[in-house]
Order: sequence, then C-alpha cells, then structure tokens
Amino acid sequence: MSEKVYDVSADWAGRAHIDAAKYGAMYEASMRDPEAFWAEHGRRIDWMKPYTRVKNTHFGPGDVSIRWFEDGTTNVSHNCVDRHLETRGDQVAIIWEGDDPSESKKITYRELHSEVCRWANVLRNRGVERGDRVTLYLPMIPEAAYAMLACARLGAVHSIVFGGFSPDSLAGRIEDCASKMVITADEGLRGGRKVPLKANVDAAIERVGGVDHVVVVRRTGGAVAMTPGRDVYYDEAAAMVTDECPAVEMNAEDPLFILYTSGSTGKPKGVLHTTAGYLVWASFTHQYVFDYHEGDIYWCTADVGWVTGHSYIVYGPLANGATTLMFEGIPTYPSISRFWDVVDKHGVNIFYTAPTAIRSLMGAGEDPVKRTSRKSLRLLGSVGEPINPEAWEWYHRVVGEGRCPIVDTWWQTETGGILISPLPGATKLKPGSATLPLPGVKPMIVDAEGKELTGAAEGNLCIADSWPGQMRTVYGDHERFVQTYFSTYPGKYFTGDGCRRDADGYYWITGRVDDVINVSGHRMGTAEVESALVAHPKVSEAAVVGYPHDIKGQGIYAYVTLMAGETPSDDLRKELVAWVRREIGPIASPDLIQFAPGLPKTRSGKIMRRILRKIAEDEFGALGDTSTLADPAVVDDLITNRQNKR
Ligand code: PRX
Repeated sequence: MSEKVYDVSADWAGRAHIDAAKYGAMYEASMRDPEAFWAEHGRRIDWMKPYTRVKNTHFGPGDVSIRWFEDGTTNVSHNCVDRHLETRGDQVAIIWEGDDPSESKKITYRELHSEVCRWANVLRNRGVERGDRVTLYLPMIPEAAYAMLACARLGAVHSIVFGGFSPDSLAGRIEDCASKMVITADEGLRGGRKVPLKANVDAAIERVGGVDHVVVVRRTGGAVAMTPGRDVYYDEAAAMVTDECPAVEMNAEDPLFILYTSGSTGKPKGVLHTTAGYLVWASFTHQYVFDYHEGDIYWCTADVGWVTGHSYIVYGPLANGATTLMFEGIPTYPSISRFWDVVDKHGVNIFYTAPTAIRSLMGAGEDPVKRTSRKSLRLLGSVGEPINPEAWEWYHRVVGEGRCPIVDTWWQTETGGILISPLPGATKLKPGSATLPLPGVKPMIVDAEGKELTGAAEGNLCIADSWPGQMRTVYGDHERFVQTYFSTYPGKYFTGDGCRRDADGYYWITGRVDDVINVSGHRMGTAEVESALVAHPKVSEAAVVGYPHDIKGQGIYAYVTLMAGETPSDDLRKELVAWVRREIGPIASPDLIQFAPGLPKTRSGKIMRRILRKIAEDEFGALGDTSTLADPAVVDDLITNRQNKR
C-alpha cells in the first residue's frame, strides 16, 4: 500500500477532455438521471433508427434483464469504418507491427473499408448470416480486425479463441456456440516461433464436427493440410468477390460477440455482448480514459483473443476514428527493448499494457528502456491485475520519465469496458489504486452477508446499477448468468473481486475472492485445471490454488494425489505439466506441483481450499480453524513437503 499521491499537472488539466470539475459534474449527472445522461452520450455513435428508450435494466431478485437503447438500430462495422470515410478516409486506422521488426504496415480507413467488405462477402458466400456464430482463432494480424468487423457488418456473432488455447479448448468453444465457420491462419508467429494454428483447428474439428467452412489466412506460408470442400485460403476466396458490401441494420440489443471466460466452477462461460450499448461504452471509455485526441497514435499491447483486445484495440479506438497499433510479437523479441523500439518507430502517444509485462521488463533493469527515446509518450495505462506500487513507480519513473500519468484501469470481460480508472486530466493518482468510478458506474462494497459498507471499508465489490457495456447473458444459459453474478448479493452485480475503499473514496482492488486465479493478467478457473489433472490416468485427485508470483502476479499451485501404486517423481511432474498444456493450453501450466498422499477435507468430504491457499502462500501460522478436518495429520504432511521452488 502506498500513500504517495501524484497531482494532476496544470497542462494536463488544461488540455484534457475532462478536468476534475467536469468529472464531478458528469458523475453526479450520471447518477442523478442515468436516462438523460445516456440519452445524450448514446448519440456518440451513428444510428440508423434513433432510440427513444434508453435504459431498461433489472438486476433482480426475480427478473434479471439488461437492455439499453432497445428500440434503436445501428451497425458496429458502419460505426468503426464507413462513418469515417468522409472525414478521414486517408488517415491510418491500423498500424500493424509484425513479430519481426522488418515487417510492418499501415492501413487507412479507406483500405480498412475495402478489406472489411471483401471479408464480409467471402463470409456471406459461405452462408454466414445475421445471428450465425463464427469462431476466430487467429494471430495478431490485421485480418483479425477485418474478420471481426466483417462479422459485425453481416450481423454474425464472433467468438474469438486466443491462439494459445489447445485444440481441446478450441473444440469446447466451437461446440458450445455451434459455430459453422472457423477463421484461422496457416501458422502464427510469436517471438520467432511458429504456432500451428491450422493444425490445431483440424484437431479441434475432429472432436466436434458441425463446422462446414474453414477460412485460412496465409501468414507464414507454411504447408498445412486443406480439406477439399471445407477449407479455403482467404486470398483465393477474396479474389472472387467485390469490395462493396452494405452494413446490415441491427437492433441495439442484437448480439455482437461471445467471448469465453473462466469462472469458479464448470466450463468457461460464453460472455455475450450486444451491439449498441457495448459500442457506446467502448468508445466513451476509450476517449475519456485515454484522453484520446484526433491524430494520437494509440497502442494497446493486448491480444484480440482477450476482451482488452476487443474493446481497446478494435472497437473503442476504431469507433473513435483513432489510429490503433496492433502488435504481433512479444515484449522480449528480438530484444528486451522491443516495446520501446516500437514506441519510437511509430511515435506512440498512448501506451496500454499489463502489469506482468512491466514486472518482467523491470527485472532487466533500466538500460534497455533508457537506450530508447520514448519522447512521443504522453499517457501510460495498466490493465488485467492489480499493479503493485513498485511496478507502478518504475513504469512512471523509467518508462514515462515522470511526465506521463498512469491510468490503472479496472474492469472485466463481463463489464465490456473500463469501470474504475483515473481520468488523466481529472484524477490525482495513487500508485496501486484504480482510483474512482467512471461516470455511470456505481460501485458498492458489501460484507459477506451483503450489507453495504459505507465510507472507508474493505469487502466484496459489487456494482449497484447497470451501465451500457455490461454483458447481457451467458450464451445459451441465462440461468447461469443470474446464478453467477446476481445471486450472491441479490439485486447487485457481484464482480468476484475483493476491494478496499480509502478515506478519499479511492478503490483498491485486492484480487479475486472466488476460485478464479489471475495468471499474468489471464483468468484461469482452478476447477478447469483440476479437471484437466484428474483426467490423467495416474492422478486420483487434484486441488489447485493461486500463490503470489513475482512476475505473473499469481502462479498456479497444484496439489496432486496419485492413484494407488503410482510413485511421485520429477518426471511425472513434468509429464503432468505437459498434460495440462495439451488439455487447456500453455497459459494453464502449473508452476508448482506438490504430490500429496491426502488432501485436507471436512468430514463430509469437502476439500478445504482455504488451508491449501495458506500453505501455498507459505502462511503456515494462519491456517485458521482446522478442527473440522477429517484427518488433521494431512496438513502437517503438506507443510513438511511444501514445494519450495519459486
Ligand atoms: O480481478 C480483476 C482483474 O482481472 C479480472 C478480470 O479479468 P478478465 O475478465 O480476464 O479481464 C481482464 C481485462 C479487463 C478482474 O475481476 N483486474 C482487471 N483489471 C484490474 C484487475 N485487478 C486490479 N486492477 C486492475 N486494474
């Protein structure tokens, strides 16, 4: 916890869209009369038929339904592309920076329009219609944005699966939303290494079926198997179509995309976002949080496979007519200065990344940063996990040379966009705090019983009323939506995060309070990793918890009980790590595996995860009440054999 406060500098307050007084007035107006506030701000996007109804939202108990601008019609692709043609057709929309520094290109809004239309025609020729689901499994290439916008243009619903997920994970996501089309590339390229995307798609489809079309972008030109009648190279299909395709008129509440995310239980959930409210939120927050001005070069280093890439590489910036940089590579290739080299190469003004990247670069010292200029940088952002004050200070002092404010943005896949964040011209910064809610956002801290805590307090973070970017349902399972988010504290949206509010009303997110862990800013359900482990023939039982990790924020700690007759060994440990990577993907690799002859259970057989968490955190003295354990001796054994490698 840091008590340091950074004031807003005079030039920022003078130049920014929103200063402290304006923030106060906007926030107050949004709370006093949300209808009037959003009636006004909803007009920031183009409408085909304007809305007359603004907010129709219910958090239960009973009815949980969320509708914004429900009688309006519009099209997201029109808003991100066509509407800019007249005023900025020749302005660069996307700067693409390849994995290899010798590869980069710039795509203007006019070129973007032509590409998106061509893509839409290729999709339409293969039967994609309004409401159909299309799965994207792509590297960070401009085609990812084209394909997203082509789906939106036709009213099809995209579901992007991060390229680091295994064929099994991909198969589950294709199946859950019954996609008939998958869009992929021959291979991805990251840090000089190839990722076999098309081969993974083939393996996934073998498991699920139902996919009629696979569209393959040539990225590396590597040889891949093509199934006749099902698979087509994009360039060959594109040569047969025109670059004109009208944008379909969509209702405000028609689905825009599904994005799977991990929760405490069960399979990943298909978070569903709809058309207008989502776009209004993405564009509103992109403009104000990043204080985006005409002509700025903006770079968010996320992958489009995560929500940050959806809202802050593609939809928010393009809706605002911005120049958005898309980076295919990794921060350490070909050198540890890569981020800053790219900043200098393209004159980046606004830079948005994750604390895990900052912490890993911090480990290499200041020189790799200082040998670059970075004089174009004006604003820095952070997202995905709590940023520890040391990493914040380093980011501020070394990367930003003390002149760039840092916006620590708190939000979730479910929220569609940023909810709690500083506004750079308005908010004093405290390292480690996401600071204050944006206009339209009503945070509430509650205790375990759901009682609201006022003033300075610590508890569980809920949001008391809807905002336009909120998810609408879990795809195909509205009951799960209600259960997951609105049943713990009836009538409120429960975020799953713990939070402290200080005497200045600043919010400090303390991390997940459920069985979700946050590894390098990626959400992982402990139950998913456990079920992958117990699927191994030598494993009888597994329990997975998070533990503090210097770079990743949290690491994955797995307690594994073997089948009778199996012997623990380092080789078996490696085998299990490889197994989980194959089942879920590299992002789920356990960092530590402890073989345990037994797990701590209550007499009714429930695993006491609280105890396992404390042991993983090395807090042996804080195990709490162990009197309800069926066999207290297992805890002593776990402590004795705690894996001490970090
Ligand atoms: O625990 C919070 C953490 O990331 C979770 C959401 O993960 P995901 O849906 O994958 O979205 C990540 C990108 C928005 C939250 O429940 N989190 C996200 N941003 C922050 C954060 N924790 C602290 N500070 C943040 N700025």
